[in-house]
Amino acid sequence: MTDRRTAVITGGAGGIGLSCAIRFASEGCSIAVLDVDERKGKDAVRQIARQGVPASFYPCDVADRAEVLKVAATVQREMGPADILVTSAALIPNTESILDMDMDLHDRMWQVNYHGTLHACIAFGRQMREQGRGAIVTLGSINSLLPLPLPAYNPGKAAIQRLTQLLAVELGRHGIRVNSVAPTYVLTEGLQEKIDAGQRDPDKIMGVHALDALPDGDDISQAVSFLCSESASKITGVLLPVDSGWAAAVSYKTYAGGVPWSI
Ligand SMILES: NC(=O)c1ccc[n+]([C@@H]2O[C@H](COP(=O)([O-])OP(=O)(O)OC[C@H]3O[C@@H](n4cnc5c(N)ncnc54)[C@H](O)[C@@H]3O)[C@@H](O)[C@H]2O)c1
Repeated sequence: MTDRRTAVITGGAGGIGLSCAIRFASEGCSIAVLDVDERKGKDAVRQIARQGVPASFYPCDVADRAEVLKVAATVQREMGPADILVTSAALIPNTESILDMDMDLHDRMWQVNYHGTLHACIAFGRQMREQGRGAIVTLGSINSLLPLPLPAYNPGKAAIQRLTQLLAVELGRHGIRVNSVAPTYVLTEGLQEKIDAGQRDPDKIMGVHALDALPDGDDISQAVSFLCSESASKITGVLLPVDSGWAAAVSYKTYAGGVPWSI
């Protein structure tokens, strides 16, 4: 075994997870991508391996606890115990009414987004506990901060933030730090498809940020990498928004009296 760190990325086949995998590969980590999408997962691993590091794809539905535990044991055997875990796997919904929502979709979303995060943290957190070190970053969202009309996803992201804090406290004595990153709208392939389908309004999006530009996957991966680095060795249990100023601007810019530069 070398002193290469092993980074495990759930949902690493695409979007933000893939950006994180590429960044950790560029830092010399071995990369384990866990995802349900085999085709994208294999393509991702080919792309990651161009950085000259070991990279493997593990088909895995994070909602399935037994499968996550089994895959974690395989990753440990083949790549060594996890030093870094990023939980990016998720389903991202559209606006829904609580009273009329599809409860099967609701339950599946909790299984993937919340339970999937929990399953991965348990499986790889145990490996980190054995090592006495590790860093976990969960993917939150601006949905972790305020109510938005996504009745399964929104409370799920708030719950992931609380779980992150609980894990930070429980695992801190084992040398493991646990933090969350909260992106605003990130222009991934998935978000672009929703804009094209009329499910997200780009003008509304741009109207509620302080900055004129949204983060991309690379911006999110830099925050994730920082939280896993020595520079963040005393940071645990935090939620770091990477939100182009959304949290500061969303109430300010919708104030009934207007904003000072438009009066
Ligand atoms: N894109 C955004 O605007 C945005 C904003 C805030 C937060 N986030 C969060 O960031 C994370 C990544 O989002 P993204 O935009 O990259 O999404 P994405 O859809 O581009 O990627 C998610 C990945 O998770 C995988 N996945 C889905 N279900 C899975 C399952 N059951 N088991 C394993 N893998 C599964 C998908 O195959 C996909 O590769 C999510 O947690 C999301 O909630 C995204």
